[in-house]
Amino acid sequence: EAKIPINIMEVGPRDGLQNEKGVIPVDVKVELIEKLGLAGCQLIEAGSFVSPKWVPQMAGTGEIISRMHRLPDVHYGVLVPNQKGLEGLLSVLNSYNASPDSDSTPPPSDEISIFTAATDAFTRANLNTSINESLAKLAPVAKQALDKGLRVRGYVSVAIVCPYTGQVDYKKVREVAKELLNMGCYEISLGDTVGRGTPTQVAEMLEEVKKELPVERLAGHFHDTFGTAVANVFTALEHGVRTIDSSVGGLGGCPYSPGATGNVATEDVLYALKNSKYTVIGTEYGKGTIDLDKMTEIGWWISEKLGRESISRAGRALRAK
Ligand code: HMG
Ligand code: MG
Repeated sequence: EAKIPINIMEVGPRDGLQNEKGVIPVDVKVELIEKLGLAGCQLIEAGSFVSPKWVPQMAGTGEIISRMHRLPDVHYGVLVPNQKGLEGLLSVLNSYNASPDSDSTPPPSDEISIFTAATDAFTRANLNTSINESLAKLAPVAKQALDKGLRVRGYVSVAIVCPYTGQVDYKKVREVAKELLNMGCYEISLGDTVGRGTPTQVAEMLEEVKKELPVERLAGHFHDTFGTAVANVFTALEHGVRTIDSSVGGLGGCPYSPGATGNVATEDVLYALKNSKYTVIGTEYGKGTIDLDKMTEIGWWISEKLGRESISRAGRALRAK
């Protein structure tokens, strides 16, 4: 029986590293993105063009995406919070277009992600603005990016629980997601930013959002603070979501989401999907999927660079074998 294809958006280089305290050399970030490409990942979030005063760890994204060896068939995306962020990316793309590497090398990035949230409190903490103001500022950014031929993805953070105001009204998630879709986002990623959501809540939230948005346009972005992320991934898939955001080695966290831990580990998602009715789409480098053994190695490699062990459960078990 034909399996149901699903996508993994590998967010390790961005969500995974943005909250790290120590300085991570550009070379390490470049190597991480290159390794992920060679493991079969076809969707990689490579960094952010955000204010270095707000998120110091993402400074240098322009240099990273210019320098890294890029593979055909891989989409390299970056987070953009405002007009200035888009301009940062466009200047990198302009320099590249002035002297492109070769026909087979794709440009440094072909995708931006814009982001807002389902509560004003979180949007204020993360973007220094309200939800409505953030949407008003992001609409022209999305339009300009689309005009430049970039793909635009949207995030709605705190789709279940807000670290500042608690339980979130799922109607608000639906409304904000709809706004992002109307701006031309090809997909809206719904984030359990704090990682406190349960499968039951994920189901309830998706039921609400699906009232107005086609489920094919939704992605699930689960942090794993309470250990529910893999279960939440499966709940989302059972509801028809076909893209899952995950992070190699279970890295990750948002500086404005106190107490939250990393994203669901890509290794854990890949392992849990074995023998299922789903199949993860990857490039030829992962033989059409994403290679779990390679991802395990990368999870350990980057974690050791950060001075610790991989926290992916599957990654640990596979290494111990
Ligand atoms: P602000 O302080 O109101 O902005 O912050 P501002 O316009 O007053 O600018 C402040 C300074 O930053 C100025 O520099 C700007 O030039 C500079 P100064 O004049 O003082 O020297 N600046 C920039 N520099 C580089 N790139 C830019 C940029 N914009 C301004 N794009 C702002 C507003 C949006 C800039 C700020 O709040 C910000 O950067 N926020 C981003 C926070 C962030 O990256 N959070 C993590 C990502 S979201 C996340 O993790 C959740 C997600 O994973 C999903 C989930 O889990 O739910 C996606
Ligand atoms: Mg996140």
